[in-house]
Amino acid sequence: MCGIVGVLGSHEASPLLVEALKRLEYRGYDSAGIATVHEGKLGRRRAVGKLVNLSDTLVHNPLPGKSGIGHTRWATHGAPSVDNAHPHQAGPVAVVHNGIIENFRELREELAAAGIKFVTETDTETVALLTQMYLEQGQDPVTAARTTLSRLDGAFALAFLFDGEEDLIVAARKGSPLAIGHGDGEMFVGSDAIALAPMTDEITYLEEGDSAVLTRTSLEIRNESGEIANREKRKIQIDTARVDKAGHKHFMSKEIAEQPTVIGEAVRHYLSTDGSGIQLPGEELDFTKIDRLTMVACGTAFYACLTAKYWFEQLAGIPVEVDIASEFRYREPPISKGTVALFVSQSGETADTLAALRYCEGKADKILSVVNVPESSIARESDVAFPILAGTEIGVASTKAFTCQLTVLLMLALKAAQDRGAMTEEEVSNLLIKLRALPGTLNETLDCEAPLAEAARKLAEARDILFLGRGLMYPLALEGALKLKEISYIHAEAYASGELKHGPIALIDKHVPVVVLAPKDNLFDKSISNMQEVMARNGKVLLITDKAGAAEGSEGAWQTVLLPEIDPVLSPILYALPAQLLAYHTAVAKGTDVDQPRNLAKSVTVE
Ligand code: F6R
Repeated sequence: MCGIVGVLGSHEASPLLVEALKRLEYRGYDSAGIATVHEGKLGRRRAVGKLVNLSDTLVHNPLPGKSGIGHTRWATHGAPSVDNAHPHQAGPVAVVHNGIIENFRELREELAAAGIKFVTETDTETVALLTQMYLEQGQDPVTAARTTLSRLDGAFALAFLFDGEEDLIVAARKGSPLAIGHGDGEMFVGSDAIALAPMTDEITYLEEGDSAVLTRTSLEIRNESGEIANREKRKIQIDTARVDKAGHKHFMSKEIAEQPTVIGEAVRHYLSTDGSGIQLPGEELDFTKIDRLTMVACGTAFYACLTAKYWFEQLAGIPVEVDIASEFRYREPPISKGTVALFVSQSGETADTLAALRYCEGKADKILSVVNVPESSIARESDVAFPILAGTEIGVASTKAFTCQLTVLLMLALKAAQDRGAMTEEEVSNLLIKLRALPGTLNETLDCEAPLAEAARKLAEARDILFLGRGLMYPLALEGALKLKEISYIHAEAYASGELKHGPIALIDKHVPVVVLAPKDNLFDKSISNMQEVMARNGKVLLITDKAGAAEGSEGAWQTVLLPEIDPVLSPILYALPAQLLAYHTAVAKGTDVDQPRNLAKSVTVE
């Protein structure tokens, strides 16, 4: 993953680099570093841990210079340590890198055979050492960087800075995004436009295989074949204000609380002007011509797809396949005519999802995406990108983006159902009325925070927790377990309730809490039978249901949390909230780093 930035500025570079890195910290936060050229000499500062540690280092040991590069790391090769932190320097060149150099072992062997010593365990060091070797062979900096680039396999975004070159950065992209920012007598480069937003709103995105030579007044881009390439300069609208916690203890809690508002906005965005129908933005989509929908995503976004499968199949009658992007891309499934591919991603930069999208190019009839970041690679490379309008999500554990993804996917399914005649206009309109009322119901659901926090304090003592759900609640059970494990570090698993007896029931004893998500829907009785099977084996059940469900099924449960009643079609959006709140309060009770849990990053731009 990692975030990279480069500045050829007219003022001191280090504050700009640190501000840009703050905006990139979502990509990784296990170490950070910057390098500048000052009076012709490269200098570096690096620190392990969050960016604040680098800022502290710079207070005590400032780094002058108006040209610089910076990096925030999510470790791939080599543990988080100062030595392994970027920028990596080899003599007169410093390099920052996002991605993985796949042939780094061969390159290391080649360099070792030439008597060159390594001081880090990273793949990136080979890039710096190769460039140094070519410089020593007499190549100029740009040629040395380009020769190095021609030797690299894998996915990368790179920026090079050189001794004695205060007006030069060489940058390149292959598989990892990179944006060039144009200033007034200044030039910038960064992993995304958000990082560059305080410095400029004029952006040129590099394309696959591009390399760029930046000076303060010029930009030369070459494509993979080495030909000069013209890439469009765009004006990007990005809010430069950094998002704050608005009085909440954590971004995650703020983002949970924001859901009624952002979901309301997402619903409004897809409603026709009179509010009675669905109006899709952009190009008209003919749902009647779709034979099959292939949905691909990772993590939480994958669970949004699993939920949407029920909607597209049950409401619109479209057969749906859902796949994890990292499996889909290497399985290389046949894509038959009439297939539309739909990719779901908060960041729009997830490497596996992007690669899966590229696999479908030229094979699927259309490439659609449901994304939160409109300028992201996935959005830009889709035929139609549907925004989810969740606003910036800072907490690493996705919350409001998940429910906004669900909302938009449901509206797409309803539009498909109506266009295909699977639902009448009146049936759709009735559900739209309920969707419009959803923010109010979500607010009521947030009022259940106290009992959930109380339950979470007990869950925090568990070593293993199971989540059960049926039908639309099954993907939510998976999401609840993922949320819990990623921020509380408690082992959690989810099963379709009916699957429990086929093996996992062996895990049940009095120490294993089981969270059962069961609104009073057509599958409720079956869920309750499965819950009874758990209780018969001394399992402690936390039942999350509504009033009618509690009246019928809560007897014997360890604890019951009541949610407002909701149309079953909309229930996943509502039941996502208690799953998030349980995870949040369990993590708070355990004292973990809720917003930046260990080992994770917000945007996963490596395979
Ligand atoms: C979990 C979480 C991750 C992401 C996954 C995909 O809370 O956030 O599982 O959902 O890494 O990320 P995007 O949606 O950016 O493609």
